[in-house]
Amino acid sequence: MGNLKDKLVKVCLCKGVSRHTIKECISEGAITVDDIAKNTGATTGGCKGRRCKSKIQELIEENK
Ligand code: FES
Repeated sequence: MGNLKDKLVKVCLCKGVSRHTIKECISEGAITVDDIAKNTGATTGGCKGRRCKSKIQELIEENK
């Protein structure tokens, strides 16, 4: 169930990047917000990461 919810929850609203995608990226070795940005486009939307950067940082802390 966690997995389904992760697919539905968008962490980066501008780019529509789900929590699932970000966790996958972390499991493949991403360790910084920049790594996630390069691989998923998260933080590169209209708000320039203002709404999503801290959430991504939290996910890295929780899942590294
Ligand atoms: S919510 Fe991620 S760039 Fe705006």
